[in-house]
Amino acid sequence: MHIDILTVLPELLESPLSHSIMKRAQEKGLLTVEIHQLRKWAVNEYGQVDDYQYGGGAGMVMMCEPLVKAIEELSVARTYDEIIFLTPDGEQLKQKMVNTLSLKENLLLICGHYKGIDQRIRDHFVTKEISIGDYVLSGGELPAAILVDAIGRLLPGVLNDETSALFDSFQDNLLAPPVYSRPVDFRGWKVPDVLMSGNHRLIEEWRHEQSLQRTKERRPDLLDNQ
Ligand code: ADE
Repeated sequence: MHIDILTVLPELLESPLSHSIMKRAQEKGLLTVEIHQLRKWAVNEYGQVDDYQYGGGAGMVMMCEPLVKAIEELSVARTYDEIIFLTPDGEQLKQKMVNTLSLKENLLLICGHYKGIDQRIRDHFVTKEISIGDYVLSGGELPAAILVDAIGRLLPGVLNDETSALFDSFQDNLLAPPVYSRPVDFRGWKVPDVLMSGNHRLIEEWRHEQSLQRTKERRPDLLDNQ
């Protein structure tokens, strides 16, 4: 998969995408992420990409011209399956959407800043608008990093068996069961006996039961949405 990201703050994205699983995905050639400084397509030599909004009001708006030039230039090299704008008024990101996006070949992510981007870009270029939750961040970079991480770890070959995404919370609308490691007894707090039984059928049953219980207690809405 190839992901291009348009941003005025590349530095905010570089670190989250260059460690651990995202690093491995890129080293293995399963994912390429290219971060593009939007100011490369600025309207003047001062690197301007934003301007006052028509109708008045506080806050600048990211202008059409730099974004269109960037999108059109990047679209010469590849055809995007989706052009995604990260925005708090987009569709809320859920595992199901991540699963769907992980099957695509080429994605272009646009990170907004200030008051947002000119509506005409949303109307004529953006194919999907995604919010990572009902709160407002200062820009789309952290949401973009979250989206790339969530997608990248699902690409075949990125995770090994132990970390397989099949067992993640939300994959089957259930939260993940509790997990334990050494020692068996820590300050008198014991690991449940069943996990030491060696009986894989019993362990799987116990884990499923725990997942169900946890989901009922914490996220009953997930069970209603089956
Ligand atoms: N930009 C600012 N806040 C955001 C959010 N919650 N989701 C996506 N993009 C954003």
